[in-house]
Order: sequence, then C-alpha cells, then structure tokens
Amino acid sequence: MSRHRRPSLGQGLDYVPGEQPPDDVSWIKLNTNESPLPPSPRCAAAVAEAVASLRRYPHPDGEPLRSALAAHHGVAPEQVVLGNGADQILEACFRAFADPGDRVVLTRPTYSLLPQLARLGGVEVEAVALGPDGALPEGLAAVPGVMRILCNPNSPTGSWVPPEAVEERLGTSESVVVIDEAYCDFAPASCVPLLGRHDGWLVVRTFAKSRALAGLRVGYALGQADVVADVAAVLESYPVDRLAIAAAHAALADADHHRRIVELVVVERERLSAALRGAGWEVAPSHANFVLARPPGGDAAGVAAELRQEHILVRHFRDGMHDDRLRITVGTPEENSTLLRALGAEPR
Ligand SMILES: Cc1ncc(COP(=O)(O)O)c(C=O)c1O
Repeated sequence: MSRHRRPSLGQGLDYVPGEQPPDDVSWIKLNTNESPLPPSPRCAAAVAEAVASLRRYPHPDGEPLRSALAAHHGVAPEQVVLGNGADQILEACFRAFADPGDRVVLTRPTYSLLPQLARLGGVEVEAVALGPDGALPEGLAAVPGVMRILCNPNSPTGSWVPPEAVEERLGTSESVVVIDEAYCDFAPASCVPLLGRHDGWLVVRTFAKSRALAGLRVGYALGQADVVADVAAVLESYPVDRLAIAAAHAALADADHHRRIVELVVVERERLSAALRGAGWEVAPSHANFVLARPPGGDAAGVAAELRQEHILVRHFRDGMHDDRLRITVGTPEENSTLLRALGAEPR
C-alpha cells in the first residue's frame, strides 16, 4: 500500500483470487472452479476469423452476442448487458445502485469478492446469515438496504435455493435484487423465468464455468430493460472485446458441448462427494461445480499444503467460517482420481 491510497479504502483491501500456476500439465488445478473440459472446438475458428476485424472497435453492446443471449433466454436484447466477466457486472451493480454510505444486503456466507466490492465503493454491508442448509431467512426482503445480492448456487458452499423459495423470500423487496447464477447450469433450475414478474431483479451469468471460458472474461446480466440500462450506463464504452464476443457466441451455439461439460461435472461431483464421504470427510450437498468438504480432523490448511506438494491445488478460505474445510473444484475423472488417491480415499 502506498501513501497515496485513498484513506477511506484502509488496509487489507486486496481480494486474493485462487492461485494460477504456470499453464503446465504437471498441475492439477481444483482451486478456482474452472471447467474440467476445454471450451467448444468452435471457439478457435471463431476467434481466428474475428482477428481480421480487430482494427475496428467492438460493438458497444456486444452484438451479435447480446441478441444471441436474448434469444437463448427468451428475452429482448435490451434486457441483456454484457461485461468483462460476471465480476465486472457485479462491480457495475454496486456503482449503479449504491452510493457511498448506502447499505447493501449480502448473505453470510457469500462470494468473497462481494464485501470487497462494497468496500471499494464505500458501501456498508449487512450480512444476513443463511440457514445451515443455505436456506434464505424469513424477512430477507425487508432488511434495510439499497440492493440485495444472492449467489445461487452459493459459493463457497454449493448450496442452492429453488426459484420458488427465492421468490417467496425476495419477491417483495423494494430495492434491487441481484441473483448471481454463475453456477446455475449445474443446478436444477434458474430464476430467469421469474424476471418478468420482478422489475427490480437482475440475474447474473458467466461463460467462465459451464462454457469453459474463464480465460475469456465474459459475463452478463438479464433483467427488465431499465435496470439493465442502469448497469450498462456505468460500464466502460466497450466492455467486451471482439475476440471474446466471437468465442462466446460460438460457445453459446454449441449446445452439445455445453451439455457434455454439465453432465461430466454433475456425475463427477457425485462420485467425488461419495468417495470423500467414504473416507470420513464431511461433504455438503453441492449444486455447483465444486464441493466444500471437511477432512477428518479438520486440518484443512495442512491437507491443502500436502496436496500442493503433489502439485494439486484446492482452495482454503481463512474466513472464520470455513477454516476447517476445503473447496474442491470438480476436475476430469482422471484428476479426481489422482486427488482421491493422494487423499487416501482411493487405492494408489
Ligand atoms: C459466485 C461467483 N460469481 C461470479 C464469479 C466470477 O465470474 P467471472 O469469471 O465471469 O467473472 C465467480 C467465480 O468464481 C463466482 O464464484
């Protein structure tokens, strides 16, 4: 921290994303919830073709991707706003809907970036505890705040709340409701069909998980046209570049590849969960592409360090809530087997 940092930011601000080792086959990366499979093979050709147009700026609204997403979700193009990853969309929500000094309602636990975004914007946080199974508490819609953000499925737990329960708990909110569905494709249902009934709701999605494009940085929000326009208004002029638009567009069109990724993750998630439970781990039921699990004895930091020695990365959060647990991304069948063998949960 330099002496020039704005005092209101204080210390300890820096969000620490999961470790990214060199792109090297010797590492098994199960720490940042990336896809076990590569993106659709159609992406490479789309990017190669788009290179020829790079002397021109991209479309400011990300066309033709925006219209393709609108058709995919059954909404109008004006109901879609694209950004440089879901993270940028979430950051834009803070800037669009919360002034410094305002209060935003988050859940506890939640995606660890969100409190940092609040701090960057000088926004207060009311963190409302979820039930042990991730259930939304009664009265959530009435907690004072200019915006409510729910991750569904949640991170780092993988818990998921059915859309009817989200509507029951948040349907009467007077302020904006942001539902981050980064992991929704691995869960049974989405809140997108409810958007027509709630003019202050936004659903945030990403190409980083079930479309295997974390390195591309494309996310988007869906909602009524006026709240979507509020988010677009605080983004930079060209938030998504031409190569990203082209690759995401190609990935969206490849429904078979998408289905393969989702099916593999769901099958392997259940296998990984069962094997860990069999070896004495406590594993929370997950509807995402990761599991949150407590090793026997609870020395999660020690287990993570041992795995790292074997070039296997998992995520340990020192957040005062999950210190005895590891968040483990579902990898390929081979990666998951290597992990299980390293943990003694499968024979070597
Ligand atoms: C709940 C949640 N939302 C958003 C993101 C980030 O999405 P993106 O990579 O599109 O910025 C993550 C990443 O891990 C996440 O866990």
